[in-house]
Amino acid sequence: MRGFARATGRRLACFVRAQPLPNVAASSRPYYGEYAWAYDLLTDRPSAQECECIGKWLAEFGIHAGASVLDAGCGTGRYARHLAEAGFRVTGIDSSLAMLGEARKHCGGAEHEVALHVDSILAHSSSLPYDAVLCRGVLNDLTDTLDRGAAFTSFAQMLRPGGVLILDVREWTATFTKYTRKPIVEKRVVTDRGALSFRCTAQLDPSQHLLCLAERHTITTTSQETVSDFNFVMRCWTRGELSTFLFDAGFVLQKYFGAFDATVAVGSTDRLVAVAMRGVAP
Ligand SMILES: C[S@@+](CC[C@H](N)C(=O)[O-])C[C@H]1O[C@@H](n2cnc3c(N)ncnc32)[C@H](O)[C@@H]1O
Repeated sequence: MRGFARATGRRLACFVRAQPLPNVAASSRPYYGEYAWAYDLLTDRPSAQECECIGKWLAEFGIHAGASVLDAGCGTGRYARHLAEAGFRVTGIDSSLAMLGEARKHCGGAEHEVALHVDSILAHSSSLPYDAVLCRGVLNDLTDTLDRGAAFTSFAQMLRPGGVLILDVREWTATFTKYTRKPIVEKRVVTDRGALSFRCTAQLDPSQHLLCLAERHTITTTSQETVSDFNFVMRCWTRGELSTFLFDAGFVLQKYFGAFDATVAVGSTDRLVAVAMRGVAP
């Protein structure tokens, strides 16, 4: 993710610039930082059901309970926990300390321990290669083409030959249609810290498949209202681009879906889910 402006309080300065954009740590986004505690409330996903599907896809490659799985960009740890409960030996990494803090809470009581580390998907090294890597909702944050390529090289290095990568990204064409029709997304939730409202305004840059987002979190208690504004850019994906990066990094047997559900075809949702096996030579 590349942030291009940040303002707190009521001020919001938004400078949409052509590349290059300054790098910021992923955790400078309030969604992954000061509001990490509200992430799961604002981003509701059928993670248990999706992990069942992940388990079935891994089984098709002979990867079963007891195998090692890296959740790369594990966020609040909900997928890591479900996979650990299914019997996998799970390691979760994330670049945001705040998200990992939430993951520690979520995974703490799990029957099977989840190892959690602050680390980048671009630099993670482990003494043993993993049997599988899950990378869900993370790669849109990489806007630089070199970083995108480096992520796939890194995944290939983390996996044993025959290991499986499962990833989920935002698909450009459907995302363009969705946000052109409805550029503002709003959510409200009542939390034990006050009423939280979230508003996200999107602008699209078709030339580079960019989604330029202005996010506002507002938390209201009986005594005060606190506003956090943050502008940043995500870069969406096409199936062709994913396929090229996977191929170049040595992944074979690629399959694509529109969700964590083998019956949902690519193009019918704004997600692209890929399942690919690391070939013998990375
Ligand atoms: C949209 S969240 C998805 C979290 C989780 N995978 C899920 O599906 O619930 C993206 C996560 O990726 C993390 N992230 C972004 N860039 C990263 C990087 N280069 N290395 C590790 N984590 C990263 C963020 O901190 C955030 O927790």
